[in-house]
Amino acid sequence: MGSCVPKKILTNSDLEKMVDTSDEWILKRTGISERRILEENEPIHKLGVEAARQAINDSGVKPEEIDLIIVSTSTPDYLVPSTSCIIQKETGAVKAAAFDLTAACTGFIYGITIAKQFIETGFYKYILVVSSEGMSKVTEWKDRNTCVLFGDGAGAAVVGAVEDGYGIISTYIDADGTQGNNITIPCLYLPEEDIARRANYENKMTLWQEGQEVFKFAVKIMPFASEKVLKDAGIKVEDLKYIIPHQANIRIIDSAAKRLGIEPEKVYTTIRKYGNISSASIPVALADAYQEKCLKKGDYLVFVGFGAGLTWGAALLRWSK
Ligand code: ACO
Repeated sequence: MGSCVPKKILTNSDLEKMVDTSDEWILKRTGISERRILEENEPIHKLGVEAARQAINDSGVKPEEIDLIIVSTSTPDYLVPSTSCIIQKETGAVKAAAFDLTAACTGFIYGITIAKQFIETGFYKYILVVSSEGMSKVTEWKDRNTCVLFGDGAGAAVVGAVEDGYGIISTYIDADGTQGNNITIPCLYLPEEDIARRANYENKMTLWQEGQEVFKFAVKIMPFASEKVLKDAGIKVEDLKYIIPHQANIRIIDSAAKRLGIEPEKVYTTIRKYGNISSASIPVALADAYQEKCLKKGDYLVFVGFGAGLTWGAALLRWSK
């Protein structure tokens, strides 16, 4: 595992000076206290490269032994080359094939699901999965509805075969394109509808969302997806050490945990210090739990996420280190 967040901290009190908001509102309604933000012309891929280097070092695998690099990102520095190709160059993983995937905040779960298939078939031995996001670059800093929510960061994992009964046990990914209009970040096309929603935005190529619709969707889909991966593996919620959810809003996390029937102390959160880092939220939280020595061999973990698309998914993992 590896992770990297920018040095610069943007606190709720900093935001009070930028938009009509308050530390109290943000903390109470979202659970966020501060977030990490890249400097103005700092590249996003730099975070992914650092997280990837840490993961490669941690795994003991040589960069040239990596067969494939999968990067999940909704905020690439370039449309081409892909962020995965940039990470290949910067890490020296010279023999790896490389591609990016876009599944918004569910990207890490999509990434490890793909990696699992290649490892299980024996087609590849080692796969680097990186989630690298610079949400501050697609944020409208004049919109208090969205600018308080997001942060930047990257998380990475080297995926390879482990002993039977350990590792990624079951995964589930899904999507519903009919709800795609609930969260959009335009890129090369700006229809009337997207312009209208961003009437007061200085930069129209930024994130807009129907917050309450996403909220209602998230509180239902998180327990559903978690229960599915547990049931597929015959594991009970009581057997879990932690659930590591996508960190979008503490009220979504608390409500989903309650519906799932899991104790609050088994819900691993980093939202207070990092906000929503899109697909990097889950691997950054996992790296955090690992670095804090909260994980031991045999622990069952569930990752669960949802995001633009709409997409959602979950994975059950048995920690093998
Ligand atoms: N500070 C102060 N007041 C605010 C702020 C703010 N930052 N933001 C909104 N408000 C106000 C609103 O204007 C509104 O005022 P009004 O009643 O006078 O109209 C009031 O607070 C309530 O607004 P709501 O939108 O109803 O607030 P809600 O409790 O729904 O919280 C939030 C909004 C935080 C966005 C919530 O809906 C949410 O978390 N939704 C899910 C978002 C999400 O998970 N997105 C994932 C996308 S990530 C991805 O895929 C890239």
